[in-house]
Amino acid sequence: MLDKRNELNAWDRDHFFHPSTHMGMHARGETPTRVIAGAEGVYITDTTGKKSLDAFAGLYCVNVGYGREKIANAIAEQARNLAYYHAYVGHGTEASITLSKMIIDRAPEGMSRVYFGLSGSDANETNIKLIWYYNNILGRPEKKKIISRWRGYHGSGVMTGSLTGLELFHKAFDLPRAPILHTEAPYFFRRADRAMNEEQFAQHCADRLEEMVLAEGPETVAAFIGEPILGTGGIVPPPKTYWQKIQAVLDKYDVLLVADEVVTGFGRLGTMFGSDHYGMKPDLITIAKGLTSAYAPLSGSIVSDKMWQVLVQGSDQLGAIGHGWTYSAHPICAAAGIANLELLDELGIVENAGSTGAYFRSELAKAVGGHRHVGEVRGDGLMAAIEFVEDKDDRKFFDPAQKIGPQVASALLERGVIGRAMPQGDILGFAPPLCLTREEADIVVKAAAGAIESVFSNR
Ligand SMILES: Cc1ncc(COP(=O)(O)O)c(C=O)c1O
Repeated sequence: MLDKRNELNAWDRDHFFHPSTHMGMHARGETPTRVIAGAEGVYITDTTGKKSLDAFAGLYCVNVGYGREKIANAIAEQARNLAYYHAYVGHGTEASITLSKMIIDRAPEGMSRVYFGLSGSDANETNIKLIWYYNNILGRPEKKKIISRWRGYHGSGVMTGSLTGLELFHKAFDLPRAPILHTEAPYFFRRADRAMNEEQFAQHCADRLEEMVLAEGPETVAAFIGEPILGTGGIVPPPKTYWQKIQAVLDKYDVLLVADEVVTGFGRLGTMFGSDHYGMKPDLITIAKGLTSAYAPLSGSIVSDKMWQVLVQGSDQLGAIGHGWTYSAHPICAAAGIANLELLDELGIVENAGSTGAYFRSELAKAVGGHRHVGEVRGDGLMAAIEFVEDKDDRKFFDPAQKIGPQVASALLERGVIGRAMPQGDILGFAPPLCLTREEADIVVKAAAGAIESVFSNR
């Protein structure tokens, strides 16, 4: 076993190009390789036998938890019966067609069709193309700009990395590319004018958006994209009335709304979709992670009836749409999606995300909210974050070079719990599987309190 482990570690350092990893440090062996061997429920186990409670559900995606036989069986059965057939020129499989119906049945009002992809990034890439296609069909070739937010996360492709509003994803990649623009992040805790209350700050964000639309020219602005609650940018719920105020600006200038629900879709906020949770009225919805709970890679762009009618009109003028991936609507992934959505219903997972989420966040706030270096404990549903500050009264942030967030995440891992040091700011994030129990929530809270105490005890 030890030999096998050493061999894997060597192969890993020599041949495996990891995403989002410091390449030099990893290749030189300065950062640990962790090889995950198995998982059950909310726990993962590595090849050394160390078990950790995964309070980030992988990358906020293993929503029903690990080791679900029902999904494994559905995948195996589909692979045996029909491992693949494409979806081009009107082809389908029972699995892909059934899943599209199940998604529309659960989607917010006014949604009509699902285009399937494989990742959140490619689904947003599809969205950008559909938005451009739509405006070309409508005879508005100038209306192409897409406004995103600083701290938004929408993927790491060329266009989707441009939509993402985090420096790390732009640096040395020559991003962002036109025609993508970024407006202010709805980050109440970090607002410049601390005298503003939440509604005033929401109005301020909507005003900034309107100024940008007017400065660019409304005839050039096609769409606005946002996650219902900022995820990778820091797990930041919108200030009260934010989406209503943003929606009013979008409606006024005929700008489409893309709700990126890659994280929030299928229950994370205690409702099936975050759009319903916050009263958003999207024209396109991006889905991925929770669609299959990551048992197989599958994403989708849910298209509203309003857009669909125009797209149909377009193919009567232009012919078949020139967009598709070999693996669009892959039947094995679709079978995983069907079993996953059935499990959500059978186990009451969405309701659990709401109730256990509320419990978890309130226990977390009680346990660590008063700490002198905790500036804010925030979240919604089963998403939570602790933001650390050097000085609470002055809201002074730590020098990023101190890497406070990663230090707390390491101390948490030493206590058997996985949280995520969010990439911009000293923020410890939690997004556990939606099947989390209160007892498991208690374990996470206790470990978080211990980790914070240990990191700050000598400061
Ligand atoms: C909101 C959001 N959109 C898009 C993506 C990109 O998804 P993927 O990593 O599957 O490409 C992510 C990934 O975390 C995400 O959080």
